[in-house]
Amino acid sequence: MRVVVNPDYETLSEEAAEIIAKAVLGKPTLTLGLPTGSTPLGMYDALIRKHRSEALDFSGVRTFNLDEYAGISPDHPQSFHGYMRTRFFNLVNLLRKNIHIPDGSPDIDATVEADRYESAIIEAGGIDLLIVGIGGNGHIAFNEPGSPFDSRTRVVALAPETIQKVTKEFGSSEGIPRTAITMGIGTILDARRILLLASGAAKADMVRRAMRDRVTDAVPASALQLHSNVIAILDEAASAKL
Ligand code: PGA
Repeated sequence: MRVVVNPDYETLSEEAAEIIAKAVLGKPTLTLGLPTGSTPLGMYDALIRKHRSEALDFSGVRTFNLDEYAGISPDHPQSFHGYMRTRFFNLVNLLRKNIHIPDGSPDIDATVEADRYESAIIEAGGIDLLIVGIGGNGHIAFNEPGSPFDSRTRVVALAPETIQKVTKEFGSSEGIPRTAITMGIGTILDARRILLLASGAAKADMVRRAMRDRVTDAVPASALQLHSNVIAILDEAASAKL
């Protein structure tokens, strides 16, 4: 795994955006795997700046988000649909038909939706470049500890520590999702190239466990050691224990 350590969150975000921009320039029909969470916010801002000031063109790019809460409508402001609309999709020239996020609507059978999503990724020819963060418990997307490394897109139960974090983000204890539709670890490992982003001292232990310690399903992100084309983009604080 190649490791790039940046001095701070801003440079980490620029570095990630630069790699994505180069990939889009090299292949205007690139298929991206995209994350949500706090870590990629700076990266999305940097991509929006590149779209505005350098005319970075997303009109041929296809995107597949890593995951979405189950039982939450795409219109819900805390849904990952909502996050992506307001943080990225509405601010660049991606075409609606090229955007894919699992549909977590309460009236949709999440298991059927997960299978449909996995098939859509395969039909698109797979993911060229997938960006992923790491959870405090080592999860990647919503693959919580214990997730099989050959798992595909499916419905999963959120870990208690993930539900705690989600509860804070929702700002109320009502309507908190307890399940999600997530790309599997196998789905993620099928991406041709992966960028792992981690920022801040709170991630330093988990970054070490994921990147340097034994590969184990207790640390889902350690599965990335099995992939031959991963770049970990860290800031100094997140890399402190490597
Ligand atoms: P964060 O989440 O970017 O909000 O830290 C990362 C994750 O849980 O995958």
